[in-house]
Amino acid sequence: MKGATTDKMHTSVTAEAHANIALIKYWGKRSTDLNLPAVGSISLTLDDLKTETTVSFSDDLDSDRFELNGQQVDGDGLERISSFLDYLHEGPERPGAIVKSNNNFPTGAGLASSASGFAALAVSAASAAGKELSKKELSALARYGSGSAARSIYGGFAEMECQDTGSANSGAAKSLYDHNYWDIRLLIAVTSSQKKDVSSTEGMNRTANTAPYFKSWVQEQAQDLSDMRSAIAEKDFEKVGELTEHSCFKMHGLAMAARPPLLYWNDTTIKTIHAVWDLRKQGIPVYLTIDAGPQVKMLCKPADVKVVRQALETINGIEQLRCCKPGPPAKIKSTN
Ligand code: DP6
Repeated sequence: MKGATTDKMHTSVTAEAHANIALIKYWGKRSTDLNLPAVGSISLTLDDLKTETTVSFSDDLDSDRFELNGQQVDGDGLERISSFLDYLHEGPERPGAIVKSNNNFPTGAGLASSASGFAALAVSAASAAGKELSKKELSALARYGSGSAARSIYGGFAEMECQDTGSANSGAAKSLYDHNYWDIRLLIAVTSSQKKDVSSTEGMNRTANTAPYFKSWVQEQAQDLSDMRSAIAEKDFEKVGELTEHSCFKMHGLAMAARPPLLYWNDTTIKTIHAVWDLRKQGIPVYLTIDAGPQVKMLCKPADVKVVRQALETINGIEQLRCCKPGPPAKIKSTN
């Protein structure tokens, strides 16, 4: 890893990226080596949840260093960052890197910290390495760190495509609409800020290898994606909500059918699901989705935020309620 003999500190770049929530879920990989998804996905980037990452390379470092939320990270966490940085580097040796990252929300708890984390890392590391990459190239790079991170390069609605064109950018996401396209809200009920027991990577690999319905999940995804694209184009809120819930329960049903089974929910998750359905019975258009963790994310219109909040405030076990608008794309904040 160590390069030149002189102590040479390179440019330090800080970038910011926002988390995104999949409305049509990615679950399962076509290639674990290249981290290519088995299915496409469609997401909404969120303004309120973000990661800020600073990267500087130094010829004088024997190994990479990684600090997350002020704490030094070693072992697997550091290894994941180092392998990611290796993708960027051409040639036999690369300088060591100092990576400092901060999330403004719980890490590894099903709140898409790997999406914002690897998108911010892709943008800051590419720039610190002196590379000028297009959005598509940054998205393909972010994907090596985490599939969902490919979507966080973009603001608003993004789609991760699932076609292997054989090009360097295959496995990249694209923008559908930017964050000013549609003023909707995503409320997040945090029911636990503990790190999850089974990571998304492990969960989706176990599901792909053991769940009996995995093949139909893959086959049906094209229809869900096409329906979602149309629903967003028509700004049909109820349709977007219905498809979002369907994709969520299909993914979790599939994960529950893995061996051993995967259940990411807790008691409060289930109480919140019922609260959302009760609100719908009262005529409030609110729809939910859940990722690989116990948090419940709810889509609603701005005018209904108050009534949804009031209903959720009665549920014991919700630790925090966050209200997000569509968020902007990843960007460089400063270069020193
Ligand atoms: C349930 O992107 O975290 O949030 O590519 O293995 O890092 P890896 O997985 P990751 O999985 C996200 C899964 C999900 C659905 C989604 O965001 O599409």
